[in-house]
Amino acid sequence: MSEKKKKIVLSGMRPTGSLHLGHLVGALHNWIQLQEQCHCFYTIVTWHALSSEYQNSKAIKKNIFEVAVDWISIGLDPDKSVLFIQSDVKEHAELHLLLSMVIPLPWLQRVPTFKEMQRELPDKDINTYGFFGYPVLQTADILIYKANAVPVGEDQAYHLEFAREVTRRFNRLFGEIFPEPQTFLTNVPKLAGTDGRKMSKSYGNAIYLKDPPELIQKKIETMMTDTRRKRRSDPGIPDDCPVYTLHRAFVAKEKRDELAQRCRTAEIGCLDCKAVAIESILNILAPYREQRKRFEKNPDLVWEILEEGNKKARQVAQKTMEEVRSAIGF
Ligand code: TRP
Ligand code: SF4
Repeated sequence: MSEKKKKIVLSGMRPTGSLHLGHLVGALHNWIQLQEQCHCFYTIVTWHALSSEYQNSKAIKKNIFEVAVDWISIGLDPDKSVLFIQSDVKEHAELHLLLSMVIPLPWLQRVPTFKEMQRELPDKDINTYGFFGYPVLQTADILIYKANAVPVGEDQAYHLEFAREVTRRFNRLFGEIFPEPQTFLTNVPKLAGTDGRKMSKSYGNAIYLKDPPELIQKKIETMMTDTRRKRRSDPGIPDDCPVYTLHRAFVAKEKRDELAQRCRTAEIGCLDCKAVAIESILNILAPYREQRKRFEKNPDLVWEILEEGNKKARQVAQKTMEEVRSAIGF
């Protein structure tokens, strides 16, 4: 494909700290692949983080670093993709403001995530103007690079629907400036954490990319399995086993089908079955661990990569904003 025809992809991640296997399966694997055919922008969305973490704003900077180290070490390649920090490209804020002028209030009032997040984070006061505008800022992130496609998980589908609606309205008012961004749904079954619930930092059940191999091994060895298998001789059902979600994500199909069969007939014990997942995960993370060592020794390398990314992003964003201002008549 010629450079011009390449699709533009944008996605973002909130800097909440170190990344876990759920991020790898739910986003990063997909992002890494997209680098090969598309022009990708991946951003650490600091302002989105601030909208719910403003009471602990100083932690955000450290978390930027944690996310960036994980990104680069796992395979997001700064030579292929633009990796940058949202709040270092101020144009996002200008577009957010301009979009907010034309977005009917009811469109925001019916965004389900606003109420959901308030319910999920009862200890945080996110009944704010900024948090209410979360999807507007997300739309600005996408449109400012004229992204054609946005790889996200199911939980972001509504925000993308919102972004498309805003795009149409803006284009109708001011001319065809922005392509309508398509959603690339990352359709992966949820990865379970060590306690069987969805893997999530807030549940304390996550396996982190940066966990030392011994810790990963221990977490999986003590991870919940299908509760039917009380004794070694009890058959199990892999579909009901949290560990098997790891097999689905990290063990080759042939091998995991065989394990599933031997689970159903109680031919294999859980520890042996887990050993296969452990080995596979440690293998996949081996190159990551090597890369990470490099950046831990020299953190400036990470900040330099982000600064380079910021510059490239800024160039594109500035150009778009010139067009937008002129379309509005400023
Ligand atoms: N809201 C997204 C999330 O919580 C993060 C995000 C911000 C994003 N801006 C974006 C995702 C733009 C895709 C495109 O995961
Ligand atoms: Fe889960 Fe494997 Fe044990 Fe079956 S044998 S319950 S799939 S860990």
